[in-house]
Amino acid sequence: MDTMDAIMTRRSIRKFEERQIPDEILNRIILAGTYAPSALALQPWAFVVIQDKEFLKEISDYCAPVLLSNMRKSVSHEGMSDKFRKLLEGENYSIYYNAPTVILIAGKNTCRFKDIDCSLCAENMMLAAHALGVGSCFVGSSEIAYENKELLEKFRIPEGSSPVGTIAFGYPLEKPKAGEKLTPKVVRI
Ligand SMILES: Cc1cc2nc3c(=O)[nH]c(=O)nc-3n(C[C@H](O)[C@H](O)[C@H](O)COP(=O)(O)O)c2cc1C
Repeated sequence: MDTMDAIMTRRSIRKFEERQIPDEILNRIILAGTYAPSALALQPWAFVVIQDKEFLKEISDYCAPVLLSNMRKSVSHEGMSDKFRKLLEGENYSIYYNAPTVILIAGKNTCRFKDIDCSLCAENMMLAAHALGVGSCFVGSSEIAYENKELLEKFRIPEGSSPVGTIAFGYPLEKPKAGEKLTPKVVRI
């Protein structure tokens, strides 16, 4: 798959097969992340690979009701669609969509551009995954879990780093179409 194809056909996947992704493939996905550009080439990322189903359920069970309550209170849900709210209201909703692997990307606190660096790393990982036949979904909703000190500790994030985001990975069971793309505002000087 060439780069342009990968960019144009990657979609967020929210239905996954149960089968686990082989370590060899996951390592290639992480390696692709580390080839992302980073300010001063500091590469401030670290990865927590989570495959423990009970822990993933614990995070999800903690975050989902808070997310829903925030949505109902109209707190910080700008742009969140009714579709997402309905998903959340579903009985067995998992913020990770029962993906067999979730990777948390953490950024080194001392790096000024850690959030940008780690986001570039995340996109590299999602594109690489797609090229390798693995689906992914960036899940920002886990940020609720980081506010809970006890839960945050369980992520075993390396000392001196903080979570930037989580990505759910698994073999896709759906092939969603791209949503409508807004015409970009482009200023030419
Ligand atoms: C910062 C960020 C946070 C996101 N958080 C979630 C999330 O919590 N749950 C979810 O299902 N999708 C989440 N997404 C995925 C977006 O919903 C998705 O990228 C968007 O709808 C566009 O669809 P596409 O990825 O298929 O192009 C997030 C994406 C980004 C970039």
